[in-house]
Amino acid sequence: MKKHDLVSEARTLLEKSIIYYHGRPIGTVAAINPGLSVLNYDQCFVRDFVLSALAFLSNNQPEIVRNFLIETLSLQSHEPNIDSFKPGPGLMPASFKVELQDREEYLDADFGEHAIAKVPPVDSCLWWLILLRAYVKATGDISLIHQREFQQGIKLILQMCLVHRFAMYPTMLVPDGSFMIDRRMGVYEHPLEIQVLFYAALRASKELLSANEENASCICGVNQRLASLTYHLRQYYWIDLNRLNEIYRFKGDEFGKEVANRFNIYADSIPTWLTEWLPETGGYLAGNLGPGRMDFRFFTVGNLMAIITSLASKQESECIMDLIEQRWSDLVGYMPMKICFPALEGMEWRLITGCDPKNIAWSYHNGGNWPVLLWLLVGAAQKTNRLELAYKAIELAENRLMRDEWPEYYDGKNGRLIGKEARKFQTWTIAGYLVAKEIISNPMYLELVCFDFD
Ligand code: GLC
Repeated sequence: MKKHDLVSEARTLLEKSIIYYHGRPIGTVAAINPGLSVLNYDQCFVRDFVLSALAFLSNNQPEIVRNFLIETLSLQSHEPNIDSFKPGPGLMPASFKVELQDREEYLDADFGEHAIAKVPPVDSCLWWLILLRAYVKATGDISLIHQREFQQGIKLILQMCLVHRFAMYPTMLVPDGSFMIDRRMGVYEHPLEIQVLFYAALRASKELLSANEENASCICGVNQRLASLTYHLRQYYWIDLNRLNEIYRFKGDEFGKEVANRFNIYADSIPTWLTEWLPETGGYLAGNLGPGRMDFRFFTVGNLMAIITSLASKQESECIMDLIEQRWSDLVGYMPMKICFPALEGMEWRLITGCDPKNIAWSYHNGGNWPVLLWLLVGAAQKTNRLELAYKAIELAENRLMRDEWPEYYDGKNGRLIGKEARKFQTWTIAGYLVAKEIISNPMYLELVCFDFD
């Protein structure tokens, strides 16, 4: 099939995934043809829809995005958190569905209370803010964000995210599996993906909040947190050979304010694979940082979004792309690209995933290859002017996606097998491909999710 036909096939499939509510398009289902057991793949997931939204915006179809933003805002939780098994105020749902009662349509939202293992989708409200800004940038429809409900909704999210709980760090403390990886994977505490999305959401809020007296203290809180969060992530999450050398020679158990080993990371916790794997010229942001714990795994969404949103400096962005280029077969393999590297195996898999059979080594969230991540790789390559990597990645995807019926994920050390339990015709695989193609042919579209270097 010709490349042009692939794009039009993807556009047709994306249209087929649209969900209507009172006759208006408001979202897209997670998978058009979920197969296996349907579970919740017939719902519209907030994080998945971001890709559909970017694909619609680039195709001059802003209406569905506007409707989505309005409807999801109306679903936002407002309940004071008296019953701790209910979502707290500010939370956005993981997913929603159109249901019928007495022949009347209504929206049924899931805040994690139905989801497997009952995980709260912390990333939903962050993606929602990022998408709202992208929509306004694409359409210039500022009247939408000036509406009282929108200003209040934005502030409610910020209040929830900025509230001071039991934290010594500016990063956000979250439970395991509270984002794209929505199962137990040792990604609790301060996982990179959440922190980068938090950073982007704070930067988006600064543009979205009207500058008036009522918002002044909220904007001030955002600015303060942004400064300390940015410093913390750039300073302490970064790993390259120099930094690894420092960590390797750290002293432990230092007491006091001005200590080198602030988080008490012991050199013995550096995994053996890393010392050989890290190339001379590459670097990346660690997967997590907490007391006595640095997760050295490479996580793709966090690292690539750090490039796109300018959380990573120009030089760090170059280093991340150098790493991807030099470790291409590990990180990209046959399908762009791995969700994280390396996989947890053996005893580590038992202890960290709780023996999760869906997350066995090199499958699904545990080192599987997710075609939706193509757009991030292409976006980061575009931003750092490494177009040859973008073209290479798109070609890999084009060779297989359509033939394999747009799977959700691939398995194996280099992503050669269609995922064991992967859904076919997964919407964000389709939309991610369209967004990647759009970014290449029209780099302006990347601006919708980019921020300037500060
Ligand atoms: C799985 C993924 C999650 C995604 C959902 C719908 O639960 O882990 O990230 O949003 O499927 O595609």
